[in-house]
Amino acid sequence: MKIDLLDCCARHPAARSTAPDALRRLNLHISQGEQLAVIGPSGAGKTTLLHLLACALAPSGGELRLDQKNPWSLPRARLHRLRGALFLAPQVPPLPPRQRVVTAVLAGRLPHIGLWQSLRSLVYPTHMAQAEAALGHFDLADKLFERVDRLSGGERQRVGLARALLAQASLILVDEPLSALDPTRASQAICALTQAARERGASLVTTLHHVDMALAHFPRIIGLRDGELVFDLPSSQVTPERLRTLYAQHLDELSAAPPLASFDSAAPVVAMQCR
Ligand SMILES: Nc1ncnc2c1ncn2[C@@H]1O[C@H](COP(=O)(O)OP(=O)(O)OP(=O)(O)O)[C@@H](O)[C@H]1O
Ligand SMILES: [Mg+2]
Repeated sequence: MKIDLLDCCARHPAARSTAPDALRRLNLHISQGEQLAVIGPSGAGKTTLLHLLACALAPSGGELRLDQKNPWSLPRARLHRLRGALFLAPQVPPLPPRQRVVTAVLAGRLPHIGLWQSLRSLVYPTHMAQAEAALGHFDLADKLFERVDRLSGGERQRVGLARALLAQASLILVDEPLSALDPTRASQAICALTQAARERGASLVTTLHHVDMALAHFPRIIGLRDGELVFDLPSSQVTPERLRTLYAQHLDELSAAPPLASFDSAAPVVAMQCR
């Protein structure tokens, strides 16, 4: 999906009327099939940006265009259909506690199947092989019939990501997918997401606190701070100096990245790649 943000502003619905916009006059162009990571300190507006792109939040100024159409000017039925082509994986996936993992993962398909099939799949899950394969990418194939409330936080997070693999979306938005994962699983999860998006030609926008992961796995990096675009660069051009400016006064948030000493040189940061 092609995305254009034109002087876009946005604010959380619960924000005080006196609070500044969470996103301020943002201009971005994202081509179909592009993969990018959004980084920046806490409160920079990363989640707000994903909600805006997911059409969960209307811009408070400027314009959002998805495939050259302003979604908020579409009739309700078409907006609903458009939302079916967008998949947002929130940081904490909303999984009903007593649900089986298989059902939770297959929920990724719901926007693309009819009502009758949706209801039927709640009782008799179909496409189990697909669910198992998706879970396999996250080392969770053995949890297919486990109840969601019997999983650890990291396992639940990975179930939410496995769901993204089943969504037939043309824009995949993932909020902090690695917050509860160990380094090996984090790398595995990012590889699965980027590969799945590439295979289906979907655009992928991920917010990440793990700067090293962002630089290693995404060709384009957006740096946000106080709702404003600080940089929009190929990852090879994101230097330690630029990172220091982005995180100024929040350098502790770079703890997931390589040690701060390594930000002393002007060289780009490099980390491991998918196999
Ligand atoms: N629940 C809320 N109620 C009111 N205002 C909010 C709420 N959530 C976010 N905001 C406002 O929106 C701004 C941007 O928040 P957002 O969640 O987009 O930041 P973020 O970059 O995702 O931060 P984090 O890295 O901590 O997840 C915040 O600084 C805050 O002013
Ligand atoms: Mg956030």
